[in-house]
Amino acid sequence: MNAKPPNPRTPAWDIDSMFTDRWSPRALAADPLTPREVQTLFEAARWAPSCFNEQPWLFVYATAPEQRRKLAACLAPKNQLWAGHAPLLMFLLARRSFQKSGKENRHAPYDAGAAWMALALQARKLGLYAHAMAGFNLQKAYEALGASPEEFLVMAAIAVGRKCEDSGLPEELRAMESPNDRKPHAEVATDLFPLAPASHTQQGVS
Ligand SMILES: Cc1cc2nc3c(=O)[nH]c(=O)nc-3n(C[C@H](O)[C@H](O)[C@H](O)COP(=O)(O)O)c2cc1C
Repeated sequence: MNAKPPNPRTPAWDIDSMFTDRWSPRALAADPLTPREVQTLFEAARWAPSCFNEQPWLFVYATAPEQRRKLAACLAPKNQLWAGHAPLLMFLLARRSFQKSGKENRHAPYDAGAAWMALALQARKLGLYAHAMAGFNLQKAYEALGASPEEFLVMAAIAVGRKCEDSGLPEELRAMESPNDRKPHAEVATDLFPLAPASHTQQGVS
């Protein structure tokens, strides 16, 4: 039995529990997801905001064992250990250019990140967990996905599944299998005005 509390996170301010309930476990059961669950995840991602409503993300996913093996083979060995048997495996791509104008879209990774977060939060609503990974071989990923590096950035791999007991994980991963904490507010959000140089703040006065 897993003796750890389900979620020991304590937010500094009163926020919706969906934010602290989302975390990235590695102990994921191999049980398949229903087609409805899979489509619900991508439906949530579809409503993410994006620059010019471009929706520059593309989730390339696999649920069938053979296809999942193909994607899992791109992962770093440490990630293969736990994500290799997740019932839903995917890569998140971001289109480098706007489809209408052909101009570079430097906001695409930002928008793809928003889509991933929508998917991850929806996963929790379904009793599932989504775990993103940067640990993969980029060259192998482009090949496996049949994606062009000129057209797409490969942002992350993502494993989704139901959480299970962590007894099947290697000891090193089991030790990390609990929700982690965050930096304090002061390190990640700052009021603009204390940062402004004195000469700048005095401009309007002189
Ligand atoms: C872009 C990205 C890449 C990540 N890469 C990996 C990875 O390769 N392997 C892994 O086990 N976890 C990976 N993670 C999970 C992070 O370590 C995790 O999100 C972070 O520690 C915060 O914890 P939480 O998601 O449980 O809140 C990644 C997460 C993100 C968003």
